[in-house]
Amino acid sequence: MKRLSYISRFSRPLSREELLQIGEVSVRNNKRDNLTGVLFSFNDIFYQILEGPDDKLDMCYSRILKDNRHKDIYCLEIEENIQERKYPDWAMKTIILEETSDSLIVPLRNILNTITKNYYIFSKYLPSEVIHAVQNGYNPIEWDFESQECVVLFTDIFSSSTLAEKLSPREFQNLLAVYYNIVNEHIVKNDGEILKLTGDGILAYFDISKIENSLNAGIEICRELEKVRDNTNYLRFLYSGIGITAGKVLKGNIGSENKYDYTVIGDTVNRAARVENVSRKANYFLIFDQYFLDYLKNNLPYPIVKIGNYRPKGKTEIISIFSIEEEFVRKKEGSFKNRITVK
Ligand SMILES: Cc1cc2nc3c(=O)[nH]c(=O)nc-3n(C[C@H](O)[C@H](O)[C@H](O)COP(=O)(O)O)c2cc1C
Repeated sequence: MKRLSYISRFSRPLSREELLQIGEVSVRNNKRDNLTGVLFSFNDIFYQILEGPDDKLDMCYSRILKDNRHKDIYCLEIEENIQERKYPDWAMKTIILEETSDSLIVPLRNILNTITKNYYIFSKYLPSEVIHAVQNGYNPIEWDFESQECVVLFTDIFSSSTLAEKLSPREFQNLLAVYYNIVNEHIVKNDGEILKLTGDGILAYFDISKIENSLNAGIEICRELEKVRDNTNYLRFLYSGIGITAGKVLKGNIGSENKYDYTVIGDTVNRAARVENVSRKANYFLIFDQYFLDYLKNNLPYPIVKIGNYRPKGKTEIISIFSIEEEFVRKKEGSFKNRITVK
């Protein structure tokens, strides 16, 4: 048997009747599945403890995870191989804390409130893979480095230090918000994972099976930025380079005991950053290299154009770089000068 506890927040206001109905369904199902536990609700927070046979508990928890009446679900603890139940008599004791006058409940309410608030804040700073792990009761700090083949995508706003200097702080903040919303939407929609916001760009990766999606993400970002630049305000200065490559990376925790970063490292990651850098010198915003094309094999959904050959700084190897023949991927006359010619 195992025991699991989690916290979550209501996704919308839930009436007392709705809360009691969740309790009733839980009791009915849990009796059937030999599960026991307690469910607290307070303000807009749930705290639940579930215990019972592993398979039944996993099935129940996966239904609970999908339930759209709550969100921001964080598993607090999973205890494996438990011999005894703590709540053997309750198929699901449902307690609405607002209705409980016991003064000992007050600190419990405060704890729940604080934990939920903090989880919510931290989740905004973490890669979604780490959040999913925590939601499912795994401890990502224990994960070893693993070698993996994947697509790495870098983006970076052009001339962001000039923009930071010339625009008001509020304008610059808005410009970044518009940018990050676009980038985030299209990376996530295409099943990519954003690992890092770099201040004026991102580092993302895609599973190698999603290689075509990664190209789609890059193309969609370029298309959306082109639309945004139709604005007459400062958003017309929002240009970004996108560099994509594929290959082996090491994925895992780096850092010290005090601070970990869950990220990808290795030659492939460095190459993606360098390929992105070429977009400043070339006539295209979106650039990928021969490595990426080799993985993409014959699945070429767009007309591809070879831009040139390029030797990354500090390397002897010469890499062919490419883009796609689409208007919104090309720099327009006068938008960004072709300052350095790519060999
Ligand atoms: C906070 C919360 C706790 C829940 N706890 C349980 C539970 O302990 N057992 C259960 O079967 N369903 C629980 N549910 C409901 C499930 O998400 C799901 O709606 C239900 O299991 C579907 O049951 P049905 O297929 O019999 O309609 C809970 C839902 C919420 C929002």
